[in-house]
Amino acid sequence: MRKKIVAGNWKMNKLSEEAVALTSELVNMANDEVQGDVKVILCPPAIYLTTLAKYIADAPNFALAAQNCSDKDSGAFTGEISAGMLQSIGVGYVLIGHSERRQYFGESNALLAAKVDAALSKGISPIFCCGESLDQRQNEDFIGFVKNQITESLFHLSAEQLLSVVIAYEPIWAIGTGLTASAEQAQEMHKALREHLASKYGSAVADDISILYGGSVTAASAAELFAAPDIDGGLVGGASLKSREFTNIIKAR
Ligand code: PGA
Repeated sequence: MRKKIVAGNWKMNKLSEEAVALTSELVNMANDEVQGDVKVILCPPAIYLTTLAKYIADAPNFALAAQNCSDKDSGAFTGEISAGMLQSIGVGYVLIGHSERRQYFGESNALLAAKVDAALSKGISPIFCCGESLDQRQNEDFIGFVKNQITESLFHLSAEQLLSVVIAYEPIWAIGTGLTASAEQAQEMHKALREHLASKYGSAVADDISILYGGSVTAASAAELFAAPDIDGGLVGGASLKSREFTNIIKAR
C-alpha cells in the first residue's frame, strides 16, 4: 500500500524562532486533530534541520526533508550539502528537482539522476519533482514532457530503489500563482505517470509509489485533489507556512 503524504516546502522562508514555533504548533495541532496514517514531511531550510529534529522526535508521523542535496560525496564544493551529511543528522527525505532548482540553478535531468543516486546511496528517500510550464501545456505534448523527466532521472533505478522514491507532480504554472490544477487535470497526469512507471517496472511496483500533487494547494482545494484515485497527497509551498492552514490540509488527506 502506498503511503499518504503531505509535505510542506518552506522554501527560503522563516527565521530560526519562527521555524521552531511553526513546527511545535504543527506537532501540537496534528496530535490533537489528525487521525489516520498520513505522513507529514516538513522541508525547512537545511540550517534548521538539526534543531527541528528535536521538535518532531515524539511525533512518529512527522519526518524532515532537505530541499536539495549535492550529487557529490564530499570535497571542494563550497556551499553544498551532501546526502551523507543529511544522513548523519538523521534526515530521511530530500526534495530533488524542484522546478525552482531546475529554473534558477540550471539543474538538468541528468544532474538530477545523479542527485537521486546520491540520496539513495545514503538511505535517503528522494521526493522527485516534475512538471510542465504553461507554454508546454498549451503548445506541446506536456504529458510526454513530464514522462521524459521521469525517464531521464529515474528509469536507471532498480525496482527496489524506485520503491524508496516519492514523486511530486508540480505544474510550474500552478506553483505560487494561486492557480491550482483542477482535480481532473492533476488526476490525468498522475494516472499517466503511474502507467509510465508500470510500463517499465510493472503495475505492482507502480501501484506502490506515492505520487503527490503540488501547486497552490490550499485547505480549500486539498480535499477534492486528494480524493482523486492516483493523487496520494500534496507538496505544499505557501500554505505550509501557516500552522492552521497546513493542519487543515493534512486533515483533508
Ligand atoms: P505553492 O508551492 O504551494 O506555493 O504553489 C508548491 C511548491 O513549490 O512546492
